[in-house]
Amino acid sequence: MKETEFLARNYSNNIAEGQVFWASPSNIALVKYWGKKENQIPENQSISFTLNTCKTETKLSFVKKEKQDNLFSFDVVFENKKNTDFKPKIETFFKRVERYLPFLKAYHFTIETSNTFPHSSGIASSASGMSALALCLMSVERQLLESDTTLTETEQILTDTYFNKKASFLARLGSGSACRSIEGDLIVWGAHKEIAGSSDLYGVKYPDTVHDNFKNYQDTILLVDKGEKQVSSTVGHNLMHAHPFAQERFKQAEDNITKIKDILKSGDLEAFIALIESEALTLHAMMMTSMPYFILMKPNTLEIINKIWEFRAKTGLHVGFTLDAGANVHILYPENEAKQIYEFIKNELVAYCQNGHYICDTIGFGAKEMNS
Ligand code: DP6
Repeated sequence: MKETEFLARNYSNNIAEGQVFWASPSNIALVKYWGKKENQIPENQSISFTLNTCKTETKLSFVKKEKQDNLFSFDVVFENKKNTDFKPKIETFFKRVERYLPFLKAYHFTIETSNTFPHSSGIASSASGMSALALCLMSVERQLLESDTTLTETEQILTDTYFNKKASFLARLGSGSACRSIEGDLIVWGAHKEIAGSSDLYGVKYPDTVHDNFKNYQDTILLVDKGEKQVSSTVGHNLMHAHPFAQERFKQAEDNITKIKDILKSGDLEAFIALIESEALTLHAMMMTSMPYFILMKPNTLEIINKIWEFRAKTGLHVGFTLDAGANVHILYPENEAKQIYEFIKNELVAYCQNGHYICDTIGFGAKEMNS
């Protein structure tokens, strides 16, 4: 679909007030998005597992303004407390999506939001947060369309396919990786010649065969450093602009999507681990070789990586890791080896986590609308 297909139909804002409620998951990239162009267009394709239990739950209440003006009007309540920290990011998001959601300035919004994972755990909440908000806005659009009796019956309806695509499209404008959090269980973002339907504008469900080895794949997130991110993702992506290895990296990501397609089909877990670990280390290598340069791992990140490698060599079990743009480690492993690997994590790795904190998650099926 083209960008113009996401422009809204001509509906009137004739609902006085209402509420919508979505829970949307976080995701973990296997091939990483790192580097973007204008308008949140990725420099390279990425693919991620949608998570199951790490979610943002957002309730959006809307009340028609008494006097129409040219301003966005909204309050944010985060974990039951009024919050101003998120306002600039949401204001930017509203500016970017206004063109596609013409009702935004007609209403005052209250955004009540909370995460199922601990606050400041260092887990990226922008993916789950922005996707939850985008979905809520889509639900508002759906209600406005349905209530506009001047439209034909067909015009009043948003199909689920269109709804999800537009939600992903909008979420991308809030935070790139958020466009991969609408559906499950594997999502590709970025136009790739070997992935049917793939687009730079939104994430699509991975369309090809996936071996049973990847069903209910496990992700245990070791919280090595729960502090604020040392480098914001916007700063990080920008570092790819003048990066000496950028073009090679973008090409490598494209090739890795081709490779992972074969791996997902064959169920070759050794090849899977080699690919995701190389992707994680490449992401960090990009950061180490940019100007200015950053080291985002902590000593305990490296301790954990070495322990995983030792354990894998000793047992032959299929445990691998990936990293975000931070010090935390996502340990990925198949369900049928979960018992032994989980024992190893508890006995040998949790000691390296800040305050012993970790989160057990699995690959999941995407966002859900909730009854408010
Ligand atoms: C390292 O989606 O947080 O997690 O588009 O600037 O909001 P913005 O960036 P963001 O970047 C995430 C980068 C990553 C890799 C990935 O998720 O693919």
